[in-house]
Amino acid sequence: MSSLDAPKQAPRQSLWSKHKIFETNSIILVIGVLIVISIGGLIEIAPLFYLRNTIEKVEGMRPYTPLELAGRAIYVREGCYNCHSQMIRPLRDEIERYGHYSLAAESMYDKPFQWGSKRTGPDLARVGGKYSDEWQLAHLNRPRDLVPQSIMPGYPFLAKTELNYNDIANHLRANRASGVPYTDEMIEDAKRDLEAQATPDHPRAAELEKRYPKAQIRDFDGDAQKISEADALIAYLQVLGTLVDFKLYDDKANIR
Ligand code: HEC
Repeated sequence: MSSLDAPKQAPRQSLWSKHKIFETNSIILVIGVLIVISIGGLIEIAPLFYLRNTIEKVEGMRPYTPLELAGRAIYVREGCYNCHSQMIRPLRDEIERYGHYSLAAESMYDKPFQWGSKRTGPDLARVGGKYSDEWQLAHLNRPRDLVPQSIMPGYPFLAKTELNYNDIANHLRANRASGVPYTDEMIEDAKRDLEAQATPDHPRAAELEKRYPKAQIRDFDGDAQKISEADALIAYLQVLGTLVDFKLYDDKANIR
């Protein structure tokens, strides 16, 4: 017997040869894939349920005042989000145009958030303080008076329509139910706080400012006769991006 006739070695039965089961049976392969994906998913997702908060705290953020909240409701009602985003991405061109990129904490009191998905017009996340109230009012009335090439529709009816805020306390309540920390007192006084913000020299102004730091108190639409929908919407636009002091963050992290 020559060495050539030596019996062939039996193929090694390693663990890997069992892989054949998966490669020759698509149902078993699919079940295997699902099991592996769910393990990965569990590891990534399950811890989130045990964290109290996934948003890093940022100094300066506070819930909207009742007037700003009413303005926000008009922003949503009119569909401004169809053309405007409120999320500045951490890309150089965006930061140079719009300012510091948006932080998650900046929309933590937005229920639902207004990040938007379309920018027909510019991002509005930091539009607060960029223009005067007069500019905002004139622009809402007839955008092309100020920006001749604008394709934004006019909303002249907002300044003419009295704001209906009888149910503003319920708006605060609904926001509280989804996690915005409005106190009982804020809810109880919501109507008066709303009036105080839209009326210069209102006797309750100091109280409003204490509850909502940096609240801007004035007659936003220049018409002292009534609190209009434009008052509320402009109050909302003027607070966007003004609550967090980014000088603090930029100096610390040297972001820009
Ligand atoms: C059809 C799209 C469209 C809709 C809807 C729209 N806008 Fe605009 N908006 C634009 C465009 C385009 C511009 C840029 C030209 C201009 O300033 O008018 C703009 C500009 C603006 C600006 C100035 C931003 C800046 O930084 O210069 C503000 C503020 C604004 N819009 C607010 C609103 C509000 C509030 C609403 C809802 C009531 C709204 N827009 C609805 C398209 C739209």
